[in-house]
Amino acid sequence: MQSFLKKYNTFSKKIEIMAVDILLGLQWGDEGKGKIVDVIAPKYDVVARFQGGPNAGHTLEFDGHKHVLHQIPSGIFHAAIKNVIGNGVVLDPIIFRKEIDALKKFNIDFAKNLFISKKAQLIIPSHRLLDLASEKSKGESKIGSTLKGISPTYQDKIARQGLRVGDILDKNFKSYYTTLLTIHKSKLDFYQFDLSKDLAGIKDFEKYDFDFAKIEADFFSAIEFLKTFNLVDSEYLINQELSQGKSVLAEGAQGSLLDIDFGSYPFVTSSNTTAAGVCSGLGVAPSTIKEVFGIFKAYCTRVGSGPFPTELLDVVGNKIREIGREFGSTTGRPRRCGWLDLPTLKYSCMLNGVTHLLMMKADVLNDFDEINICTGYKLANGSTTDQLPYDMVKEAVTPVYTTMKGWHCDLSPYKTFDTMPVELKEYLTFIESEMKVPVSVVSIGPDRNQTISRL
Ligand code: GDP
Ligand code: IMO
Ligand code: MG
Repeated sequence: MQSFLKKYNTFSKKIEIMAVDILLGLQWGDEGKGKIVDVIAPKYDVVARFQGGPNAGHTLEFDGHKHVLHQIPSGIFHAAIKNVIGNGVVLDPIIFRKEIDALKKFNIDFAKNLFISKKAQLIIPSHRLLDLASEKSKGESKIGSTLKGISPTYQDKIARQGLRVGDILDKNFKSYYTTLLTIHKSKLDFYQFDLSKDLAGIKDFEKYDFDFAKIEADFFSAIEFLKTFNLVDSEYLINQELSQGKSVLAEGAQGSLLDIDFGSYPFVTSSNTTAAGVCSGLGVAPSTIKEVFGIFKAYCTRVGSGPFPTELLDVVGNKIREIGREFGSTTGRPRRCGWLDLPTLKYSCMLNGVTHLLMMKADVLNDFDEINICTGYKLANGSTTDQLPYDMVKEAVTPVYTTMKGWHCDLSPYKTFDTMPVELKEYLTFIESEMKVPVSVVSIGPDRNQTISRL
């Protein structure tokens, strides 16, 4: 008995040490995940992306640099951290090479701190054509995809015919590629895709003069480039780190309301953006997960189509867009803006088991006399609810608002929670009381240093 207990204690101690924390978006993406991952990364040994791909655009600002990452984890600027592109990610080699080129000036030792799962799926150029063809065929009801080939790539994964990063090391890779391209060509025929006309829909493909052979040549040279990086069985790498007592931060992409299962379907992305995606996207056990940092803006934005109950199609919406510079980090598209929506935030907290809330872009509301918060929805039958209807696309809801006084001042001098303007404290207290989760970080500007934390 004694020895069993001793063993058991050692075992449970080990469990306490091993931990994966998650940082993910609670809205429709672009909450400021990149900034916060960069800020908290020094507390971790590993930062890992578990889903999504180049549809993400994560912005980091420090020491006068502004940098947008798409596939590379946002811990990359910290030399001591291992950054992992996990198996749940879809990776575009052409965009990967561009990202690496853009990082050249930072002298990062990628051999030491960047690892790519061999099980991550590869985005090939025809995936992007399929994305465009599918969107065109939907006309008015298009999803508003970033056109990075995300959905067609995940479709091939589920259809068990996708190419994986590890396949590029196989001498038959070219023939695997040709087999997949043949399938894609027949799909493009179905969509009646015309390369010379339709390719113009993808901005960064214009440089190829609609010549697919040129795109392919670029793709294969990017594949050779990709081969020079650490291509690993990342589930082993991460679990080995964990068993040595190291800590891992899983970096979400997109937001919970774009989740393939729980988002505003069909206006969603094609992966599980919620905490559940971490286990399958990295190969870690549920018992390793500890803190879940849920990040949201002090208001809401959405880029692309789909329901957005608190959207402001007026001067107030325009004011938020202008002050918050709400234009896509990946596509440059103007983001739709609106008030904070607590029913969706509660839903996201529930799905993810959020343990800490992080409120971003408080400074964008500095100049408002009054700020609205949506606390519930009025349904067509006259009743009010704080739950999301089954289908927000078909069931129109009218937001019910609580109006709060704005803090109406520049937040830059504030460094601690205690000294914050009283109106901002009231805004946070109201959110905490509704969510039953503490707000542990308030971000007051895009720079690393513009962060008030009580984590
Ligand atoms: P992500 O996709 O969640 O990483 O977010 P994005 O990078 O797409 O969009 C967030 C934008 O807000 C970026 O331009 C950031 O630099 C900026 N940002 C982040 N935090 C703050 C903040 O507290 N205040 C302001 N004004 N901008 C912020
Ligand atoms: P980050 O990680 C905001 C949106 C697109 C579109 C829908 C589907 O920067 O927060 P997809 O290209 O995935 O097929 O597009 O999802 N979308 C995002 N919106 N931020 C993102 O990523 C997004 N990634 C995809 O606009 O509506
Ligand atoms: Mg973004």
